[in-house]
Formats: sequence, C-alpha cells, structure tokens
Amino acid sequence: MTKKIVALGGDGVGPEVMEVACEILEKMRLGLEILKPPCGEEALKTRGNAFPDETKKICDQSDAILFGATGGPSSGILAYLRWIMDNYINLRPVKYYPGAYSPLKNPQGIDFMLIRENSEGLYPGREGDISWLAQRIPEYKDRFGRTLDFYGEGKFAIRLITEKGTKRIAKYAVQLAQKRKSQGFAGKVTCLTKANVLPQSCGLFRQIVEDEVKKAPGIVYEHFHADDAARRFIRFPREFDVIVTTNMFGDILADEAGEAIGGLGISPSACMGGRKSYFEPVHGSAPDIAGKGIVNPTAMILSAKMMLDYLRMSQEARALEKAVAEVYQEGKHLTADQGGKASTKEFAAAVLQKI
Ligand code: NAD
Ligand code: IPM
Ligand code: MN
Repeated sequence: MTKKIVALGGDGVGPEVMEVACEILEKMRLGLEILKPPCGEEALKTRGNAFPDETKKICDQSDAILFGATGGPSSGILAYLRWIMDNYINLRPVKYYPGAYSPLKNPQGIDFMLIRENSEGLYPGREGDISWLAQRIPEYKDRFGRTLDFYGEGKFAIRLITEKGTKRIAKYAVQLAQKRKSQGFAGKVTCLTKANVLPQSCGLFRQIVEDEVKKAPGIVYEHFHADDAARRFIRFPREFDVIVTTNMFGDILADEAGEAIGGLGISPSACMGGRKSYFEPVHGSAPDIAGKGIVNPTAMILSAKMMLDYLRMSQEARALEKAVAEVYQEGKHLTADQGGKASTKEFAAAVLQKI
C-alpha cells in the first residue's frame, strides 16, 4: 500500500532543506505519497496560523512525518509532534562520513547512537515564580536547610524523571544495542546522568537503565557523568555504541557529538514511540543563513533515510545513504559548512546523480 508522508518545512532553513529532500524522495520513485500542507512562517503569513487544523489532521492520518525546523512560529508543530504525539524516543545517530568536515584529527569510524529521552526531564518547560512555589511548599528545604525563597525572588523550573518514562526509553536502548550487536557493533549501552549532583532523579534514571541492561545477556552496561561524556565525545568517540540520557543532556550532547562528525548540517534524528513517528534534523532554523540557498540539506536527507528505515524500506534507505556518503567521499559538491562552494540545490543534485 502507498505510504502517506507529510512534509512540514517549518521555519527558516526548514522549507529549504525540506524542498530538496522531498525532491530526492520523489525522484527515487519509491511509491510514497508526499503531502505538503501549509505550515510554518509561510502559513502564519498567509493564514495567520503556523499549524492550521487541516495540517494537523493530515499529520494524524499519515504513515510518517518529515519536519524541517522551528525558529519560533512552528514551535507548536514541534510540541504537537513530540509531546502530544508522545514520541518519547529521540534517536540521534552520530556517524562520520569520510569527506565530512570534522574538527577532529581522526574522525574515521565514529558511529554511535545517541538516544535522548524525549518526553520528560525539563521538557516541556514547567516554570514559575519562586515566591509562588515557596508559598505552596514552605516546608521544602534543600539539604542545607534552606527554603526555596532563601535567595529571594526568581524563577524555578521543574525536572521530572518517572519510572514509566525511564523504563520505556531504557528498554528501547537495550533493543537497539541488541540489534546493533547482531550487526557487528559492541553491544553496549552507555547511560549518561549527573547522578552525583541529582542522586534522586538522575539516580533513578541510572538505576532503571542499569537494571534493564543487566536483564539482557551479552549487553554491556556503562555509566558516565554527562560532563565527563562531553569530553569523551572528543577524546574517545569510537568507544560509544548506544548512549541513553535524559532530555536536556541529550539535546546539548547531540549538538556536540554532531560537531565531531562534521556539524549540525549532517546530523539527522528520528522521534518515535508515540502515535506517529516523525523525522527531523538535529539543527534548527539557522536564521543566520536562511534564505541564502546555502544550507546543508544532509541532515534532512538522512532524516528521510531514517524514515525509510522506519517504513521498512531498508534497501531504499541504504541506497540513499550510500549516495550521500559518495558525495562526501568525492568532495566536489559540498556546502559551505563543509568547506565547499555548492548550494543546497547543487548538493542535492549531486546526491540524486549518485542514486
Ligand atoms: P541552529 O541549529 O538553527 O543553528 C546553529 C548554527 O548552525 C548556525 O550558525 C547555523 O547557521 C548552523 N547550521 C544549522 N543547521 C545548518 C545546516 N543544515 N547547514 C549549515 N549550517 C547549519 O541553532 P540556533 O541558532 O541555536 O537556533 C535557531 C532557532 O532554531 C531557535 O529558534 C531554536 O529554538 C530553533 N531550533 C529548532 C530545532 C528544531 O526544530 N528541532 C533545533 C534546534 C534549534
Ligand atoms: C532540538 C531543539 C529543541 C529542543 C527546541 C527547538 C525545543 O534544540 O530539537 O534539539 O530543545 O529539544
Ligand atoms: Mn537541540
């Protein structure tokens, strides 16, 4: 049956990377029906709404969704796709393609998966006035006996780590490590927390991940503090296989890990586990280069590749990834972020030529 895909460009460079990614999918003749309902900055201008109800409805009826980026106006789309759809898995592959512009001396062979818990932690933001909270729970004191308003007025943010939320992401990490082990990877789950500072919340996350991994014969468990991991990404990037971490650490570390393999222009992601999976680059709307036709569409194209894998079109996914890898290997049609001179469209044309 024809799969129904929804392409939502969003804001800034989002529509630019989406346009070429869709063109590639269309020219590959995969039998996908790609719908492009109005959304983002453009829809806000023409209809006064960046996420019209009809667009939402089309998303609800699709098989998978591609999303470009939000730069503000499309934040409601991201919120819908992540939190209302309950896509609790944010999978961010960190894989080096030879020819990509990494700042590391030797990026060869970097190939790991960063799993970011995508439904809780500090997301969606739950904030307020300290005085409001202090009035409601005057008995709450830190371990030095100080009340919440000890330092006076300000704001608080709440970070939630639940058993349910952690167990489901831990199970996914184990499954992914098992699958990768069968493909020749190490079979290791590395859990990243700050359990030294947050022994209760990060401690719970760490314990549940460890328990889940230990139930899986042959899968190795490892834990690092998130700050130590940030350093290890630079020094020992080949020692990782599957990483699992809480929401905001995952957000920050994904950008850092992405830089090791050539930057945000290359880093794709998948948001899965909920009502409808969606696929988006790790990067945002890149306002500094939007509208110039120079944005690197690789992250969007590789996100589309992840969508093909999700739709069980693995041969087609492999063909697309191979074409991208060949363009990097050849190095003749790379975008400015990769030290090249190609435009977004020239890069995409080079990918199409390789397919
Ligand atoms: P950003 O990812 O948009 O840009 C960071 C830097 O990377 C910029 O210099 C940009 O030019 C560069 N860059 C990003 N993608 C690139 C690409 N494909 N090719 C070449 N260069 C690229 O991050 P930011 O500047 O912190 O955020 C801008 C806006 O995007 C903010 O509103 C932020 O909230 C939003 N954002 C959205 C998402 C998302 O939609 N998932 C992700 C990150 C940031
Ligand atoms: C990302 C972005 C988002 C996040 C923003 C736009 C909400 O940085 O997808 O990495 O913080 O998760
Ligand atoms: Mn981010």
